[in-house]
Amino acid sequence: MSTFQTLTWLTEKRSLRLIDQRRLPSEELFFECRVLHQVAEAIKTLAVRGAPAIGVAAAYGVVLGVQELIETGNGITLQGFAAIIDELAGTRPTAVNLFWALERMKKVGEEGLEKGFDEDFLRDLLLAEADLIYAEDDQAHHQLGEFGVQVIPAGATILTHCNAGALACAEYGTALGVMRAAQAAGKNIKVYADETRPLLQGSRLTTWELLKEEIPVTLICDNMAAHCMAKGMIDLVIVGADRIAANGDTANKIGTYSVALAAKAHNLPFYVAAPTATIDFSLADGSAIPIEERNPDEVRFFGESRTAPAKVEVYNPAFDVTPTTLISAIITEKGILAPDNLSAAR
Ligand code: MRU
Repeated sequence: MSTFQTLTWLTEKRSLRLIDQRRLPSEELFFECRVLHQVAEAIKTLAVRGAPAIGVAAAYGVVLGVQELIETGNGITLQGFAAIIDELAGTRPTAVNLFWALERMKKVGEEGLEKGFDEDFLRDLLLAEADLIYAEDDQAHHQLGEFGVQVIPAGATILTHCNAGALACAEYGTALGVMRAAQAAGKNIKVYADETRPLLQGSRLTTWELLKEEIPVTLICDNMAAHCMAKGMIDLVIVGADRIAANGDTANKIGTYSVALAAKAHNLPFYVAAPTATIDFSLADGSAIPIEERNPDEVRFFGESRTAPAKVEVYNPAFDVTPTTLISAIITEKGILAPDNLSAAR
Protein backbone atom coordinates (compact mmCIF):
# COMPACT_ATOMS: atom_id res chain seq x y z
CA MET A 1 0.00 0.00 0.00
CA SER A 2 1.35 3.45 -0.90
CA THR A 3 1.32 6.41 1.43
CA PHE A 4 -1.38 7.95 -0.79
CA GLN A 5 -4.25 6.70 -2.95
CA THR A 6 -4.11 7.61 -6.64
CA LEU A 7 -7.61 6.32 -7.42
CA THR A 8 -10.30 5.17 -4.99
CA TRP A 9 -13.81 3.98 -5.75
CA LEU A 10 -16.07 5.43 -3.02
CA THR A 11 -18.68 2.72 -2.56
CA GLU A 12 -21.29 4.75 -0.68
CA LYS A 13 -21.01 7.83 -2.84
CA ARG A 14 -20.71 5.75 -6.00
CA SER A 15 -17.97 8.03 -7.27
CA LEU A 16 -14.31 7.85 -8.24
CA ARG A 17 -11.89 9.85 -6.10
CA LEU A 18 -8.65 10.93 -7.79
CA ILE A 19 -5.57 12.68 -6.52
CA ASP A 20 -5.20 15.75 -8.75
CA GLN A 21 -1.81 15.18 -10.39
CA ARG A 22 -1.98 18.60 -12.08
CA ARG A 23 -1.59 20.22 -8.66
CA LEU A 24 1.26 18.11 -7.31
CA PRO A 25 3.65 18.75 -5.67
CA SER A 26 2.34 22.14 -4.48
CA GLU A 27 -0.97 20.82 -3.25
CA GLU A 28 -2.17 17.34 -2.33
CA LEU A 29 -5.76 17.73 -3.49
CA PHE A 30 -8.36 15.08 -4.24
CA PHE A 31 -11.51 15.42 -6.31
CA GLU A 32 -14.48 13.20 -7.05
CA CYS A 33 -15.82 12.17 -10.43
CA ARG A 34 -19.57 11.54 -10.33
CA VAL A 35 -20.13 11.35 -14.07
CA LEU A 36 -18.40 9.87 -17.10
CA HIS A 37 -17.46 13.22 -18.59
CA GLN A 38 -15.43 14.14 -15.49
CA VAL A 39 -13.34 10.98 -15.84
CA ALA A 40 -12.76 11.64 -19.55
CA GLU A 41 -11.65 15.20 -18.75
CA ALA A 42 -9.42 14.00 -15.92
CA ILE A 43 -7.63 11.64 -18.33
CA LYS A 44 -7.30 14.27 -21.09
CA THR A 45 -5.94 16.93 -18.76
CA LEU A 46 -3.58 14.52 -16.96
CA ALA A 47 -5.27 14.86 -13.59
CA VAL A 48 -4.91 11.09 -13.78
CA ARG A 49 -2.09 9.83 -15.99
CA GLY A 50 0.36 7.00 -16.51
CA ALA A 51 -0.65 4.02 -18.64
CA PRO A 52 -2.00 1.60 -16.00
CA ALA A 53 -3.79 4.37 -14.04
CA ILE A 54 -5.53 5.58 -17.19
CA GLY A 55 -6.81 2.04 -17.77
CA VAL A 56 -8.13 1.70 -14.22
CA ALA A 57 -9.72 5.18 -14.27
CA ALA A 58 -11.42 4.42 -17.60
CA ALA A 59 -12.84 1.17 -16.20
CA TYR A 60 -14.51 3.11 -13.37
CA GLY A 61 -15.53 5.74 -15.95
CA VAL A 62 -17.59 3.06 -17.69
CA VAL A 63 -19.34 2.31 -14.38
CA LEU A 64 -20.12 6.03 -13.95
CA GLY A 65 -21.44 6.25 -17.51
CA VAL A 66 -23.78 3.30 -16.95
CA GLN A 67 -24.85 4.74 -13.62
CA GLU A 68 -25.81 7.99 -15.37
CA LEU A 69 -27.93 6.10 -17.91
CA ILE A 70 -29.74 4.38 -15.03
CA GLU A 71 -30.20 7.54 -12.94
CA THR A 72 -31.49 9.65 -15.83
CA GLY A 73 -33.97 6.91 -16.73
CA ASN A 74 -32.51 6.59 -20.23
CA GLY A 75 -31.84 2.90 -19.78
CA ILE A 76 -28.75 1.01 -20.93
CA THR A 77 -28.90 0.28 -24.64
CA LEU A 78 -26.13 -1.20 -26.79
CA GLN A 79 -25.83 2.21 -28.46
CA GLY A 80 -25.65 4.11 -25.16
CA PHE A 81 -23.06 1.69 -23.84
CA ALA A 82 -20.96 2.01 -27.02
CA ALA A 83 -21.03 5.82 -26.66
CA ILE A 84 -19.55 5.50 -23.15
CA ILE A 85 -16.72 3.29 -24.41
CA ASP A 86 -16.11 5.66 -27.34
CA GLU A 87 -15.90 8.76 -25.15
CA LEU A 88 -13.25 7.16 -22.97
CA ALA A 89 -11.36 5.62 -25.90
CA GLY A 90 -11.07 9.10 -27.44
CA THR A 91 -9.23 10.61 -24.47
CA ARG A 92 -5.60 9.62 -25.15
CA PRO A 93 -4.21 7.47 -27.98
CA THR A 94 -0.85 6.02 -26.91
CA ALA A 95 -1.21 4.01 -23.68
CA VAL A 96 -2.64 0.66 -24.70
CA ASN A 97 -3.79 -0.07 -21.15
CA LEU A 98 -6.70 2.30 -21.79
CA PHE A 99 -7.98 0.21 -24.71
CA TRP A 100 -7.17 -3.05 -22.93
CA ALA A 101 -9.27 -2.05 -19.90
CA LEU A 102 -12.10 -0.74 -22.09
CA GLU A 103 -12.13 -4.00 -24.04
CA ARG A 104 -12.65 -5.91 -20.80
CA MET A 105 -15.44 -3.59 -19.69
CA LYS A 106 -17.05 -3.78 -23.13
CA LYS A 107 -17.12 -7.57 -23.03
CA VAL A 108 -18.85 -7.62 -19.63
CA GLY A 109 -21.32 -4.90 -20.66
CA GLU A 110 -22.24 -6.38 -24.01
CA GLU A 111 -22.66 -9.90 -22.61
CA GLY A 112 -24.87 -8.52 -19.83
CA LEU A 113 -27.03 -6.61 -22.30
CA GLU A 114 -27.31 -9.63 -24.55
CA LYS A 115 -28.50 -11.73 -21.62
CA GLY A 116 -31.00 -9.01 -20.66
CA PHE A 117 -29.63 -8.50 -17.14
CA ASP A 118 -31.36 -6.10 -14.78
CA GLU A 119 -29.71 -2.63 -15.00
CA ASP A 120 -28.54 -2.47 -11.39
CA PHE A 121 -27.16 -5.98 -11.62
CA LEU A 122 -25.29 -5.09 -14.81
CA ARG A 123 -23.87 -1.96 -13.17
CA ASP A 124 -22.65 -4.10 -10.25
CA LEU A 125 -21.05 -6.59 -12.66
CA LEU A 126 -19.20 -3.73 -14.36
CA LEU A 127 -18.09 -2.37 -11.00
CA ALA A 128 -16.79 -5.84 -10.06
CA GLU A 129 -14.79 -5.93 -13.32
CA ALA A 130 -13.33 -2.46 -12.65
CA ASP A 131 -12.39 -3.57 -9.11
CA LEU A 132 -10.74 -6.66 -10.59
CA ILE A 133 -8.74 -4.58 -13.07
CA TYR A 134 -7.57 -2.43 -10.13
CA ALA A 135 -6.63 -5.47 -8.02
CA GLU A 136 -4.86 -7.24 -10.88
CA ASP A 137 -2.91 -4.09 -11.69
CA ASP A 138 -1.72 -3.82 -8.11
CA GLN A 139 -0.82 -7.50 -7.93
CA ALA A 140 1.04 -7.45 -11.28
CA HIS A 141 3.16 -4.49 -10.19
CA HIS A 142 4.12 -6.10 -6.87
CA GLN A 143 5.01 -9.23 -8.81
CA LEU A 144 7.11 -7.40 -11.39
CA GLY A 145 8.80 -5.53 -8.57
CA GLU A 146 9.90 -8.86 -7.11
CA PHE A 147 11.33 -9.96 -10.47
CA GLY A 148 12.95 -6.58 -11.01
CA VAL A 149 14.88 -6.70 -7.74
CA GLN A 150 17.04 -9.42 -9.29
CA VAL A 151 18.62 -6.97 -11.74
CA ILE A 152 19.39 -4.29 -9.15
CA PRO A 153 22.86 -4.55 -7.63
CA ALA A 154 23.24 -3.51 -3.98
CA GLY A 155 24.03 0.19 -3.71
CA ALA A 156 22.92 0.87 -7.31
CA THR A 157 22.20 4.35 -8.60
CA ILE A 158 19.22 4.22 -10.96
CA LEU A 159 18.14 6.81 -13.50
CA THR A 160 14.44 7.08 -14.38
CA HIS A 161 12.43 9.24 -16.77
CA CYS A 162 8.87 10.55 -16.30
CA ASN A 163 6.76 8.97 -13.56
CA ALA A 164 6.12 5.24 -13.54
CA GLY A 165 5.15 5.08 -9.89
CA ALA A 166 2.08 4.57 -7.74
CA LEU A 167 0.71 7.79 -9.22
CA ALA A 168 0.80 6.16 -12.65
CA CYS A 169 -0.84 2.90 -11.53
CA ALA A 170 -3.48 1.63 -9.16
CA GLU A 171 -0.98 1.65 -6.30
CA TYR A 172 2.58 0.33 -6.40
CA GLY A 173 4.20 1.42 -9.65
CA THR A 174 6.22 -0.25 -12.39
CA ALA A 175 9.71 1.33 -12.64
CA LEU A 176 9.19 2.79 -9.16
CA GLY A 177 7.69 -0.54 -8.07
CA VAL A 178 11.06 -2.16 -8.81
CA MET A 179 12.74 0.61 -6.79
CA ARG A 180 10.29 0.11 -3.91
CA ALA A 181 10.99 -3.63 -3.94
CA ALA A 182 14.76 -3.00 -4.06
CA GLN A 183 14.50 -0.61 -1.12
CA ALA A 184 12.42 -3.14 0.84
CA ALA A 185 15.08 -5.78 0.07
CA GLY A 186 17.68 -3.52 1.72
CA LYS A 187 19.56 -2.78 -1.52
CA ASN A 188 20.35 0.76 -0.51
CA ILE A 189 19.55 2.31 -3.88
CA LYS A 190 19.73 5.92 -5.02
CA VAL A 191 17.67 7.42 -7.79
CA TYR A 192 18.26 10.19 -10.32
CA ALA A 193 14.98 11.54 -11.72
CA ASP A 194 14.86 13.35 -15.06
CA GLU A 195 12.64 16.39 -14.80
CA THR A 196 10.71 15.36 -17.96
CA ARG A 197 9.85 18.41 -20.00
CA PRO A 198 7.34 19.69 -20.93
CA LEU A 199 4.95 18.59 -18.17
CA LEU A 200 7.56 17.78 -15.54
CA GLN A 201 6.22 14.43 -14.37
CA GLY A 202 9.73 13.58 -13.14
CA SER A 203 10.26 16.66 -11.03
CA ARG A 204 6.67 17.13 -9.88
CA LEU A 205 5.61 13.53 -9.35
CA THR A 206 8.55 11.08 -9.20
CA THR A 207 10.54 13.09 -6.69
CA TRP A 208 7.36 13.66 -4.63
CA GLU A 209 6.66 9.93 -4.52
CA LEU A 210 10.23 8.88 -3.79
CA LEU A 211 10.62 11.43 -1.01
CA LYS A 212 7.44 10.07 0.57
CA GLU A 213 8.90 6.56 0.34
CA GLU A 214 12.20 7.79 1.77
CA ILE A 215 14.11 6.54 -1.28
CA PRO A 216 17.04 8.94 -1.86
CA VAL A 217 16.37 10.92 -5.03
CA THR A 218 18.24 13.63 -6.93
CA LEU A 219 16.48 15.72 -9.55
CA ILE A 220 18.25 16.56 -12.82
CA CYS A 221 17.16 18.36 -15.99
CA ASP A 222 16.61 16.07 -18.97
CA ASN A 223 19.74 17.35 -20.71
CA MET A 224 21.94 16.29 -17.77
CA ALA A 225 21.35 12.53 -18.06
CA ALA A 226 24.20 11.75 -20.51
CA HIS A 227 26.59 13.91 -18.48
CA CYS A 228 25.74 11.98 -15.31
CA MET A 229 26.31 8.69 -17.16
CA ALA A 230 29.67 9.90 -18.52
CA LYS A 231 30.68 10.85 -14.97
CA GLY A 232 29.97 7.28 -13.80
CA MET A 233 27.12 8.46 -11.57
CA ILE A 234 24.50 6.04 -13.00
CA ASP A 235 24.53 2.22 -12.84
CA LEU A 236 21.36 1.44 -14.76
CA VAL A 237 18.16 2.93 -16.15
CA ILE A 238 14.58 1.79 -15.47
CA VAL A 239 11.56 3.36 -17.14
CA GLY A 240 7.90 2.46 -17.56
CA ALA A 241 6.02 2.00 -20.84
CA ASP A 242 2.83 3.17 -22.51
CA ARG A 243 2.75 0.57 -25.26
CA ILE A 244 5.16 -2.22 -26.21
CA ALA A 245 4.94 -3.66 -29.73
CA ALA A 246 5.31 -7.40 -30.38
CA ASN A 247 9.01 -6.98 -31.28
CA GLY A 248 9.76 -5.11 -28.02
CA ASP A 249 9.84 -1.54 -29.43
CA THR A 250 8.58 0.55 -26.53
CA ALA A 251 6.64 3.81 -26.46
CA ASN A 252 7.17 5.82 -23.30
CA LYS A 253 7.33 9.49 -22.33
CA ILE A 254 9.11 11.75 -24.80
CA GLY A 255 12.82 11.76 -24.01
CA THR A 256 13.01 8.07 -23.12
CA TYR A 257 14.62 7.27 -26.48
CA SER A 258 17.44 9.78 -25.86
CA VAL A 259 18.05 8.25 -22.44
CA ALA A 260 18.24 4.77 -24.01
CA LEU A 261 20.73 6.00 -26.63
CA ALA A 262 22.86 7.58 -23.93
CA ALA A 263 22.71 4.38 -21.85
CA LYS A 264 23.85 2.33 -24.86
CA ALA A 265 26.75 4.75 -25.48
CA HIS A 266 27.86 4.32 -21.88
CA ASN A 267 27.31 0.57 -21.76
CA LEU A 268 24.62 0.83 -19.08
CA PRO A 269 21.65 -1.57 -18.78
CA PHE A 270 18.35 -0.01 -19.87
CA TYR A 271 15.28 -1.78 -18.44
CA VAL A 272 11.59 -1.28 -19.18
CA ALA A 273 9.23 -2.27 -16.34
CA ALA A 274 5.62 -2.85 -17.41
CA PRO A 275 2.71 -5.22 -16.87
CA THR A 276 1.94 -7.57 -19.77
CA ALA A 277 -1.25 -5.53 -20.31
CA THR A 278 1.05 -2.89 -21.83
CA ILE A 279 2.17 -5.26 -24.61
CA ASP A 280 0.22 -4.82 -27.83
CA PHE A 281 0.77 -8.02 -29.80
CA SER A 282 -1.39 -6.65 -32.63
CA LEU A 283 1.44 -4.29 -33.61
CA ALA A 284 4.48 -5.92 -35.21
CA ASP A 285 6.78 -3.03 -34.33
CA GLY A 286 6.84 0.44 -32.82
CA SER A 287 6.25 2.30 -36.09
CA ALA A 288 2.51 1.63 -35.78
CA ILE A 289 2.18 2.96 -32.20
CA PRO A 290 0.02 6.10 -32.27
CA ILE A 291 1.94 8.99 -30.75
CA GLU A 292 -0.14 11.65 -29.00
CA GLU A 293 0.61 15.26 -29.91
CA ARG A 294 -0.43 17.73 -27.25
CA ASN A 295 -1.20 21.43 -26.97
CA PRO A 296 1.74 23.59 -28.16
CA ASP A 297 1.34 25.84 -25.11
CA GLU A 298 2.75 23.01 -22.99
CA VAL A 299 6.07 23.82 -24.69
CA ARG A 300 5.63 27.59 -24.93
CA PHE A 301 5.18 27.75 -21.16
CA PHE A 302 7.23 26.43 -18.26
CA GLY A 303 4.52 25.82 -15.70
CA GLU A 304 2.62 29.11 -15.55
CA SER A 305 5.41 31.19 -17.13
CA ARG A 306 5.61 31.89 -20.82
CA THR A 307 9.06 30.97 -22.14
CA ALA A 308 8.47 31.35 -25.90
CA PRO A 309 6.70 33.79 -28.22
CA ALA A 310 2.97 33.03 -28.47
CA LYS A 311 3.21 32.58 -32.24
CA VAL A 312 6.26 30.33 -32.46
CA GLU A 313 5.65 26.98 -34.19
CA VAL A 314 5.86 24.10 -31.74
CA TYR A 315 6.08 20.33 -32.14
CA ASN A 316 4.90 18.56 -29.00
CA PRO A 317 4.85 14.74 -29.21
CA ALA A 318 4.09 13.31 -25.77
CA PHE A 319 5.84 9.98 -26.38
CA ASP A 320 8.69 8.45 -28.36
CA VAL A 321 9.57 4.89 -29.31
CA THR A 322 12.72 3.23 -28.02
CA PRO A 323 13.82 0.48 -30.41
CA THR A 324 13.99 -3.01 -28.99
CA THR A 325 17.75 -3.13 -29.72
CA LEU A 326 18.39 -0.51 -27.03
CA ILE A 327 16.46 -2.38 -24.32
CA SER A 328 18.31 -4.84 -22.06
CA ALA A 329 15.15 -6.55 -20.77
CA ILE A 330 11.47 -5.99 -20.11
CA ILE A 331 10.48 -6.63 -16.50
CA THR A 332 6.91 -7.95 -16.31
CA GLU A 333 4.77 -9.77 -13.75
CA LYS A 334 5.46 -12.96 -15.74
CA GLY A 335 9.21 -12.62 -15.46
CA ILE A 336 12.14 -10.75 -16.96
CA LEU A 337 11.75 -11.05 -20.71
CA ALA A 338 14.15 -10.55 -23.60
CA PRO A 339 12.63 -7.64 -25.55
CA ASP A 340 12.84 -9.58 -28.82
CA ASN A 341 11.08 -12.63 -27.33
CA LEU A 342 7.91 -11.63 -25.54
CA SER A 343 6.07 -14.89 -26.24
CA ALA A 344 5.99 -15.81 -22.52
CA ALA A 345 3.80 -12.73 -21.95
CA ARG A 346 0.97 -13.91 -24.22
O1 MRU B 1 1.72 11.55 -20.32
P1 MRU B 1 1.81 10.64 -19.13
O2 MRU B 1 2.20 11.32 -17.87
O3 MRU B 1 0.56 9.81 -18.98
O4 MRU B 1 2.98 9.63 -19.52
C1 MRU B 1 3.30 8.62 -18.61
C2 MRU B 1 4.47 7.81 -19.01
O5 MRU B 1 5.03 7.97 -20.06
C3 MRU B 1 4.87 6.72 -18.07
O6 MRU B 1 6.25 6.53 -18.09
C4 MRU B 1 4.18 5.42 -18.52
O7 MRU B 1 2.81 5.60 -18.65
C5 MRU B 1 4.45 4.30 -17.60
S1 MRU B 1 3.47 4.39 -16.15
C6 MRU B 1 3.70 3.05 -15.19
